[in-house]
Amino acid sequence: MLSEKIEKGLIKQLNRESESSQLYLSMAFWVEKKGYEGICEFLYDHSNEERIHMLKLVRYINKRGGNIVLNGISIINVTYQSLKELFIKLLGHEKKISQKINYLVEISLQEKDYFTYNFLQWYVEEQIEEEALIKTVLDKIELIGEDKGGLYFFDQNMKNFHKKKNCD
Ligand code: FEO
Repeated sequence: MLSEKIEKGLIKQLNRESESSQLYLSMAFWVEKKGYEGICEFLYDHSNEERIHMLKLVRYINKRGGNIVLNGISIINVTYQSLKELFIKLLGHEKKISQKINYLVEISLQEKDYFTYNFLQWYVEEQIEEEALIKTVLDKIELIGEDKGGLYFFDQNMKNFHKKKNCD
């Protein structure tokens, strides 16, 4: 059985992962409309990954006898000034998620729930990877600056990265 505190925390996290999935999806829409074929695939893929993060939590909470509550999510018509602004927001979002995961790890130790502590280690690793990945993309976008040709080639590289990832 999950303690009330842990159950509440995990359910909140589940809803955050669902919100992340919607956020990546809405960003993919915007990027696709701007004509970036590669970056939009990256964001669509990532939206799916966030849904998997949510599902892992759903399965775990059910396995431990918790009761799931889903929140309504309203991320609509978000627009950005630039790709740089979008990835800055994304990095900020992932950092916020990392803080929430760290908090959950902390309360799992306080509550002496070592099953949940163990379960959360996957999310700790995942957040390290995600922050690093988004930071790398942002660094590249900053390096390219206003160079349209550079952005075109970067987008093509992202498309190839997507194809390779889906064939591996
Ligand atoms: Fe599932 Fe990007 O945090």
